[in-house]
Amino acid sequence: MTHPRITIVGAGNVGATCALFSAQRDLGEVVLVDVLDGLAAGKALDLAEAAPLLGTSHPITGTTDYAATAGSQLAIVTAGLARKPGMSRDDLLARNAEIVSSVVKELVARSPEIILVIVSNPVDAMTSLAHRASGLPPERVVGMAGVLDSARMRAFIAMEAGVSPKDVQAYVLGGHGDSMVPLVGHSNIGGVPLSERLPADRLEKIVERTRNGGAEIVALLKTGSAFVAPAAAAVDMAQAILRDEGRVLPCAAYCDAEYGVGGTFVGVPARLGAGGVTEVLEFDLSDAERAAFDASARHVRGLVRQLEAMGY
Ligand code: 2OP
Repeated sequence: MTHPRITIVGAGNVGATCALFSAQRDLGEVVLVDVLDGLAAGKALDLAEAAPLLGTSHPITGTTDYAATAGSQLAIVTAGLARKPGMSRDDLLARNAEIVSSVVKELVARSPEIILVIVSNPVDAMTSLAHRASGLPPERVVGMAGVLDSARMRAFIAMEAGVSPKDVQAYVLGGHGDSMVPLVGHSNIGGVPLSERLPADRLEKIVERTRNGGAEIVALLKTGSAFVAPAAAAVDMAQAILRDEGRVLPCAAYCDAEYGVGGTFVGVPARLGAGGVTEVLEFDLSDAERAAFDASARHVRGLVRQLEAMGY
């Protein structure tokens, strides 16, 4: 095989948009899988027909059959239910655990060297579960959360400050949920600290809006959750791994001694390259940031314990 094979599981909005971005970036052959007969095949055919316009040279196929995924280098797992208004990501735990567990077993059985990028929610707990269910080494399993949350924070800062989002850096660590930790003190506009450009009350609102970013969209859409930014974030991670870019992106990576987390997956800055997570980067947090990060990691560990109690 001369090009990588990328499997995307789940042909809903997030999965189909991941397929679109993967094709636009010409990352490799895309295999879209969904349990619903015709859904993945239909969306993949639509994309394949757009291939001459998107500039991808690689095949895009859709199927219900995992046989087509054999030999994949990487999979983006989006399968599972999305939130409805009023639901938290944690409300999806039991249902998505069953789905993610069976999906990763199907994938690993056919692609033992695969790297898994998990998107299904609640993502930190699903990443832990995917690690356990797949039997893969922890560096080959990573969850998409911090790239999305940080992109949202960057977008909100840019809107508020009237600057290009490209020149805003922002970092959100911890679990992808209400306890996420937007790091105002480590974020900047063109290198200038946020506190020099925006008043404290506006910064507080940006932090709150970031924490609530997923729910804000769920409340507007009413029938589903965000998909363009989540897909762009997952494909950024996939690209960093497949092209061995060595990018440092906030994602749900396995931490043991790192940040004193003690053996679970939680949002931290991770170097992504060939092989998956090649390093977790640690940096000094203020006492308040540290306390918020610890609380978030505790929340994630609580979800993982609930999964263990369910037999996962
Ligand atoms: C979000 O934050 C889907 O959890 C995802 O929109």
